[in-house]
Amino acid sequence: MSGASQSSMAKTLATIHKVITRGLEVTKSRSQSFAEEGFDPSLRSGFISYARTFVNLTHAHHDTEEVLIFPYAQEKMPDTSFDSLIAQHREITALLDQMKAAIDEAEKSAEAAGPLSRMSGIATAMGEIWQPHIGEEESIFSAEKVNAVVTPEEQGKLMQQAAQHGMSHAGPDYLAAPFVLHNLSAEDRAFMAGEMPPIISQELVPVVWKDQWAPMAPFLLP
Ligand SMILES: [Fe+2]
Ligand SMILES: [Fe+2]
Repeated sequence: MSGASQSSMAKTLATIHKVITRGLEVTKSRSQSFAEEGFDPSLRSGFISYARTFVNLTHAHHDTEEVLIFPYAQEKMPDTSFDSLIAQHREITALLDQMKAAIDEAEKSAEAAGPLSRMSGIATAMGEIWQPHIGEEESIFSAEKVNAVVTPEEQGKLMQQAAQHGMSHAGPDYLAAPFVLHNLSAEDRAFMAGEMPPIISQELVPVVWKDQWAPMAPFLLP
C-alpha cells in the first residue's frame, strides 16, 4: 500500500467517518424524497445499491474497529474504556438490520413509498447515535493522543490491516471502493486514494469497474 507508512490513524478514521456520514445523509434525504415524490425508475437500482453499500460499509467499519483497532488501542491506552463505543455499535447494528430489511422491501415492492419512508426514519434514528459516537471516537483517537503512544510506522501497518479487513467485509469491491472514494471531497479523496493500492483509484474504479458502479453515480460526488 503506497503511502501507508505515512498514514495517520486519526486522519484515516476521521475520513472513513466522513464517508459514512455522507452515506447516511444521502440515504436519509433521498429515501424521504423518493417516498414523497415517487421512486424514479431510472434511479431505482442505483439507489438500492447505494443504500446497501452504505449498510455493508458501516458494518465493516464497526467490525474492523472491534476486531483490530480497539484491541490494539486497549493495549496502548490501558486506561481508556471502549465499552460505550461497542454498546453504540450494537445499537447502530440493530438499526442497520432494520435498514437492510427496508431496502429489500423497497427493491421488491412496486409501490415503495412505505419502505422508503421507513429507511428515512431509520437513518434519522441512526444519525442520533452516529454523531455522538464518532465525536467520542475521534476524541479518543485524536492525532495528539494516538501519536503519543503509537509510532507512525505502527499506525501505517495497522491502517493497512484495517483497510484490508474492512474491504473484505464491505461487499463487492466494485461498489465499496467507489462508494468510499466518491463520498469524499476532492482533497479527502486524494488522501484516501493514497491509502489504497494505486491500481484501485487509477484503474479499477475509473475504468474497469465503472459500468458496475455507474448506477450509483447520481448519489455520489463527481
Ligand atoms: Fe465505531
Ligand atoms: Fe468509527
